[in-house]
Amino acid sequence: MSENTLILGLQWGDEGKGKIVDNLSESIDVVCRFQGGHNAGHTIKVNGQKTVLHLIPSGILHNNTKCLIGNGVVLALDALYKEIKHLQAKGISFKDRFFISSACSLILPTHITLDIVKDKKESIGTTGRGIGPAYEDKIGRRAIRLGDLGDLKSLKEKIYSLVKYHNRLLENIYQHKPHDADEVFNEVVKYKELHDKYCIDSPQTMHQWIKNDKSILFEGAQGTLLDIDHGTYPYVTSSSTTAGGVSTGLGIGPKFIDKIIGITKAYTTRVGEGPFPTELHDESGSMLAQKGNEFGATTGRPRRCGWLDLVLLKKAIFMNSVTDLCITKLDVLDEMQEIKVCTNYHNGVPVYKNFEGWLAKTEGITTFSDLPEKARLYIQFVEEFVECSASIISTGPSRNQTILR
Ligand code: IMP
Repeated sequence: MSENTLILGLQWGDEGKGKIVDNLSESIDVVCRFQGGHNAGHTIKVNGQKTVLHLIPSGILHNNTKCLIGNGVVLALDALYKEIKHLQAKGISFKDRFFISSACSLILPTHITLDIVKDKKESIGTTGRGIGPAYEDKIGRRAIRLGDLGDLKSLKEKIYSLVKYHNRLLENIYQHKPHDADEVFNEVVKYKELHDKYCIDSPQTMHQWIKNDKSILFEGAQGTLLDIDHGTYPYVTSSSTTAGGVSTGLGIGPKFIDKIIGITKAYTTRVGEGPFPTELHDESGSMLAQKGNEFGATTGRPRRCGWLDLVLLKKAIFMNSVTDLCITKLDVLDEMQEIKVCTNYHNGVPVYKNFEGWLAKTEGITTFSDLPEKARLYIQFVEEFVECSASIISTGPSRNQTILR
């Protein structure tokens, strides 16, 4: 029996999921995305060449792996089209190995405008990709879905009605000029080929794969602390980034998830606004940002950096039923004199345990016993505190810079 694995972030996103998904997809039949949209940015480095994927599951880089975008994802057709063309130009084939759920809600140009004007007022610091407004329409039962491109006459009516609604918001609440409904319709229809080539029924396809004993990898985007229900609300994204999102976002029961790999950086980062108790505003923070190259893969915004928060990590491990922990970017701590982890809060202020830095190069190490003793002690402390063993430790951006235990 093959094993199905979920990979998700345990922090505020950018934990390095793309690399781990890419590593594991070599031996996997199918990789699925189940939530989020092109707000995600999964960076993968193969043979020194960097690829950033926003919408397409990271498994696409392995020729024999099939990829599915599930119904829980909000889909920007133009962004998807560009990403497909970019990968095809690199020789990657999509034929018979790439599928999109007919029930994906579409991100329209009006959603992007709404996201930008709303964020000026609400200051969440969104990625400006139209994600929140698209999910609002999905929950409001008025979204346009990929399957709607199968009937252009009714699609036109639905788009006219939705754009009229968006324009009312834009003009009356945000004093912004309206969009032209015909232009929005034409923009969507421009990408009809994506519907014709790749549109499928997600639960039915999942069922076939399960019946045929395919091994499936579920690729989470963003992270647990950005979850619409369990994150630092309202400073969250608009999807279910936690384990429950897999079932609703693909149409597959939870009993088919055998293994749950939770990913955390060896420290913490956050993009956008919102609480971040262990954030550093000193030289240590700048060192993490610089050494960790902490700039958003989607927006290029600098990420806020801080120490690892074990209180939040332990909670995230519980909420997702994590079976295996993966610690990434250990090498970023190589030059730190002192390293701290938050083990408690006192009146809302983090209480830290201090570690002496190992001040040695861990970059590229592939065997746990080859790590400096102080680095091993750091990892062992994390494992004991959160009561979960770290079966994967990443020591650099490339595929092979990984410790598998
Ligand atoms: P939205 O997802 O664009 O609505 O943004 C909501 C919040 O989630 C903002 O704080 C974003 O910075 C954050 N966010 C969204 N996607 C990502 C991601 O892939 N990595 C890290 N933060 C993200």
